[in-house]
Amino acid sequence: MSLAKVFPASKFSLNISEIAPDKSISHRSVMFAMLADGTSEIKNFLRAEDTLNSLEIVKNLGAKVDDDGDIIKISSDGIKEPFEILDCGNSGTGMRLFCGLLSSANGHFVLTGDKYLRSRPMKRVTQPLRDIGAIFDGRDDSNLAPLSIRGSSLKAFTYDSKIASAQVKSCMILAALRADGECVYTEPELSRDHTERMLKGMGAEINVDGLKTTIKPMNKLLNPLKIRVPADPSSAFFFAVAAAITPDSNIVLEGVTLNETRIEAFKALECMGANIRYENIDNKYEPTGNIYVKYATLKAITIEDKISWLIDELPALSIAMACANGTSVVKNAEELRVKESDRISTIVNGLNACGIKTREYNDGYTVTGGELKSALVNSEGDHRIAMSFIIAGLKCGMQVRDLDCINTSFPNFFELLKKITKIEIS
Ligand code: S3P
Repeated sequence: MSLAKVFPASKFSLNISEIAPDKSISHRSVMFAMLADGTSEIKNFLRAEDTLNSLEIVKNLGAKVDDDGDIIKISSDGIKEPFEILDCGNSGTGMRLFCGLLSSANGHFVLTGDKYLRSRPMKRVTQPLRDIGAIFDGRDDSNLAPLSIRGSSLKAFTYDSKIASAQVKSCMILAALRADGECVYTEPELSRDHTERMLKGMGAEINVDGLKTTIKPMNKLLNPLKIRVPADPSSAFFFAVAAAITPDSNIVLEGVTLNETRIEAFKALECMGANIRYENIDNKYEPTGNIYVKYATLKAITIEDKISWLIDELPALSIAMACANGTSVVKNAEELRVKESDRISTIVNGLNACGIKTREYNDGYTVTGGELKSALVNSEGDHRIAMSFIIAGLKCGMQVRDLDCINTSFPNFFELLKKITKIEIS
């Protein structure tokens, strides 16, 4: 699967109940099951490359996994030293959270990933972990994977993080559960909070007070996790943009997590003029429900706050910006440069190829809405870039190259897109 040719779409009206399950929650569910006394049960686990790699790692760490294709049951009697190198594939979440989970476990562990992940910064987790006694090694002073970990005892900490990152926060919370005293983690802006919600639901003593999270070490194993993973708002958002830019269209995205740290991009699209409604249906660990999106004429927007709440959706939101009246601005988003690709340049280069005027800054970019033109765009191995430009193709037709990365998060993306338009894949 190396090239997709997307044809322009005409108006559509759709309900989608098969959006890919949430990636962040799926990773966490299999990892946290290793901290429980008893069998955890996970329904609607994301069967995509990133999360299947985490499931494989959990097996390599000695967990007993019983998967009937519907419910995954996991039980563990403690983390065991693995025979295998632990391969996180393309996933920063996998690697950074496993660093926290394994830094206090008995044994030696080697974490690696694909060529993209082996180029992404890991010091943001290895340094604070080393500061409390963890033993890491890796290229560039433990900044680049492969990383080797020798489990050790960890000291209690007070850590004031300079970046709003759920991966760093989750890594440190996992370390704190095994530290020798109460730990405090503070972040500059609230990042997604699935780890806190899920671990508290399992009985961990975690207290969140604004930006400050206090964690008591586990004095016994946690209760098993019983979870149905909701649909992923980051995946759902591609289809929200599809409806918002296709005249007279509307879509219902079913069963999505409505956690406020995850749906900020939908709020941004609403500010741009799209007609969006949220219907809350359930609330176990996470509020979950349906999102209704209707086409409207879009206007430009400035995005400068709560960046971590919409960081993953900025590529798709940029396609909406390209279809809006006026110049949109994205600021304070330097984190985009260290995602699966340098997303500031992949977004800007892709839009430029489609005839859209942009300006690039260190911490963001501007997009001046105009007429999108059909082009050939390379995803640079980044799943969200690939899917965003395929959605742009609904306006004007598009060819997008390097598509295998889509399997890291949304394996049924094309199947769903075929409900909207014609696609040729070669
Ligand atoms: C994630 C956190 C975010 C996000 C990533 C998933 C998570 O990364 O971009 O796709 O599951 O914790 P950062 O923590 O680096 O901001």
